[in-house]
Amino acid sequence: MKKYVTRTSKETAVIAKELAAGLHGGETIALYGDLGAGKTTFAQALAKALGVKKRVQSPTFILMQEYRLPKRGGAKVLLHVDAYRGDVAQFKAVGLAEYLRHPDTIVLVEWADRIQELLPKKLIKVRLAHRGGDTRSITIAG
Ligand SMILES: Nc1ncnc2c1ncn2[C@@H]1O[C@H](COP(=O)(O)OP(=O)(O)OP(=O)(O)O)[C@@H](O)[C@H]1O
Ligand SMILES: [Mg+2]
Repeated sequence: MKKYVTRTSKETAVIAKELAAGLHGGETIALYGDLGAGKTTFAQALAKALGVKKRVQSPTFILMQEYRLPKRGGAKVLLHVDAYRGDVAQFKAVGLAEYLRHPDTIVLVEWADRIQELLPKKLIKVRLAHRGGDTRSITIAG
């Protein structure tokens, strides 16, 4: 398990970039943390590091958003999921399982605890927590 403390969202972005560098496709990254802990900040930096040019926002009106990744010999698709508004039944209905099975896809899930039962056992777990002011602790396991 890796542990970090960040004092700005830029520092959190650096951690996400480091994680992105080791991804090949087929991984599921579960983000945990309260409101404002930095899940979307982390997701945006990870997407950027993977070559996503579009601005990544929380998929507010849809349950998940797919991004095509540039051809670099690695993963082809990033799926950004925000489980805050959706439940297990809804994510089953939109076919999350297909993405999770796919070796060319990286799946990144905010509020992963809400749909934990749908996620594979082999997960990269990223926990973000408030530590006062702009300080956040980040632990990465798996
Ligand atoms: N060290 C830090 N790491 C990440 N974000 C930070 C940090 N310090 C301050 N922030 C700020 O905290 C906020 C984090 O918001 P963000 O949307 O990333 O959280 P979230 O976990 O996705 O919240 P929500 O559950 O509401 O979607 C941003 O406004 C960001 O600028
Ligand atoms: Mg968010």
